[in-house]
Amino acid sequence: MSPQPQAAVGAPLSRVDGRLKVTGRAKYAAEHDVDGVVHAVIVDASIGRGRITSIDTGAAEEHPGVLRVIHHRNAPKLPYRDNAGSNNPPGRRLRVFQDDRVLFHGQPVAVVVATTLEAAQHGAGLVKLGYDVEQPSTDLHEAEPDKPTNYARGDAEAALRDAAVRLDLTYQLARNHHNPMEPHATIARWNGDKLTVWDKTQWVVGTHDELAAVFDLPKASVRVINPFVGGGFGSGLRCWPHTVVAAVAARETGRPAKLVLSRRQMYFGTGFRPSYEYRLRLGSSRRGRLTAAVHEMDSETSSYETFTEDILPAGQMLYSMANVSQVYRTVPLDVNTPVWKRGPGFATASFVIESAMDELAHELGIDPIELRQRNEPNEDEAKNLPFSTRRLRECYTVGAREFGWHHRSSRPRARREGDWLIGMGMAAGVYGPGRVAAQARVRLDADGTAVVEAASSDMGPGTYTSQTQVAADALGLTMRTVTFRLGDSLYPPTPPHGGSMTLASVGSAVLDGCNKVRRQAIKLAVEDRESPLYGVDADDVVVRSGRLHVKGTPSRSETYRSLLARHDRSHLEALGSYDGPPSPERHAYHAYNATFAEVAVDARLGLVRVRRMLGVYDAGRIVSPKLAESQAIGGIVGGIGTALLEHTVTDHRDGRIVNANLADYLVPVNADVPDVKAIYLDGEDREANALGVKGLGEVVMVGVAPAIANAVFNATGRRIRELPITAEALI
Ligand code: MOS
Repeated sequence: MSPQPQAAVGAPLSRVDGRLKVTGRAKYAAEHDVDGVVHAVIVDASIGRGRITSIDTGAAEEHPGVLRVIHHRNAPKLPYRDNAGSNNPPGRRLRVFQDDRVLFHGQPVAVVVATTLEAAQHGAGLVKLGYDVEQPSTDLHEAEPDKPTNYARGDAEAALRDAAVRLDLTYQLARNHHNPMEPHATIARWNGDKLTVWDKTQWVVGTHDELAAVFDLPKASVRVINPFVGGGFGSGLRCWPHTVVAAVAARETGRPAKLVLSRRQMYFGTGFRPSYEYRLRLGSSRRGRLTAAVHEMDSETSSYETFTEDILPAGQMLYSMANVSQVYRTVPLDVNTPVWKRGPGFATASFVIESAMDELAHELGIDPIELRQRNEPNEDEAKNLPFSTRRLRECYTVGAREFGWHHRSSRPRARREGDWLIGMGMAAGVYGPGRVAAQARVRLDADGTAVVEAASSDMGPGTYTSQTQVAADALGLTMRTVTFRLGDSLYPPTPPHGGSMTLASVGSAVLDGCNKVRRQAIKLAVEDRESPLYGVDADDVVVRSGRLHVKGTPSRSETYRSLLARHDRSHLEALGSYDGPPSPERHAYHAYNATFAEVAVDARLGLVRVRRMLGVYDAGRIVSPKLAESQAIGGIVGGIGTALLEHTVTDHRDGRIVNANLADYLVPVNADVPDVKAIYLDGEDREANALGVKGLGEVVMVGVAPAIANAVFNATGRRIRELPITAEALI
């Protein structure tokens, strides 16, 4: 086949759904009009651990408008079938209203269903619960870890003993919450034994399968709809208990039920990026050649599920060294279960590794970029595979030039402007994007327009737009004549919308489906005596703006419309598929960045202001430059939050989260965000997939926090090994 002309892919287009969003016509989970909907409000446990001994629902039930109060003493027993292949971590998932146990502060213990939201909210406040209270264990540093996951190559302890230079550093990373703008919400409606759910989820297929498992329904009896998501960052990657609560509320009242988590409930109703204690010991030669690394990390999980994430790969493949050992322990606590958050694992590991590299550079008197260059591996030393593409050296070079790295003094505290100490720092970032089997249905209609459908989700990165770009070029149509639909479990199945895998996975399926449809049309034309393309080699035909023509001879052509009309075809259709990466894999596949930060630190107050940031990314081919830049800005903003502001604080006396609101849980606001610049290296990753993309939604956040921490050191001479970096720590 002749390659299709690329008109849409690579063009800096605005979001195809932008108008819907800015005019308020894009409907988010709680906004769908469902006739006869009633409102459900969760009553959450006010103890951190124990048993429910009494429930008084009298006052709530008498409140006007309240229809039902459902709790473990009157709720239906739910099957909770196993759900293999889900995003549920190993363990026993939280079963709502099935027993009297309270496993964490904020666990749903009852739901009040009422005809109005106000009545449900008021009713929830009238439910009186008695508890047998036990002391919760919520402190990572006080609890017993699970059995570790280990990795080793070489003999890291021995190599460390022999190393000319040794560092032994321990880092603390705070728990972070996703805090998407749109709260998690569900509308559930039963029609006999059929369940339809409008839900804020990043994975309609996963929520669909989980609801089928929880209620033991045939898969065909469940439908999950989710055309728009107001941010997620990972919080929507699994089906949370409140979605089941909404379905229970609907079934028990015989009415469609809407349940919206309050902002406070978002802090224990969905997951979070777990806190870590991470000790890293590094061994190096005097010339800065790494010889050994020993990583020991403890992270929180719940008492009922063991959540793990990709915390290990970065330590295995970011730098070349013969000896690595890693010990990863989860620590079960009386908290709800964590979940992935943007750049999961890699962002956390990179803070530690990249802070330590900066410490090593300082210790050795080597420029931090030069130190990294000296330890650049030739292959993935854990997988013993070549990299598909790894252009980190270019990221360093371009970044150093663009950021003016040569202006940085290697001596900390060397630059001062009045009260402000000025410093520059950098870090490398890496992320292993996913590639998972996916399907997409493509239909080209007789009027020359096309519809492409895949379950997917678009939590905000611009999936509607990028998939439309891919489809438009592959079909040879304009952007306007292609409609991409997503967010419905009736559409062909796709993997979770996360892990930077959507464009590589769903996009590859879309490309495949569109290629098939285009080939069908070309075949019809070249075999048709009445077509101007009759007898032409199919491989010489390309399609542009809905017109099939001989490559290089645009005059010999006809449109899809005339072709389909003459053949009396209402449409052409194909199911596109992507099978995932080859097994066994032939390449190690990662996206990279070099991130640069300039900070000013008030010498007396310890206040940190980020002045400039630059990210240079090796993310394969960039399908949607404008949206990619938007992703980079978002990732950097998120990284500023992790570096300087975000910290979910738990009161270990009772397990309560004390800052479960957006006033006390700090996220970056405009005044915290400086001039931010993003540069994507041109090119593509031919080994990655047919589109040449690597995925960029996660890698843009990785490396931001350590770049800022390293800049703070350069400004002040103070090394802060705890996130977030606060004024208190710097005074
Ligand atoms: Mo991202 S943590 O996979 O939504």
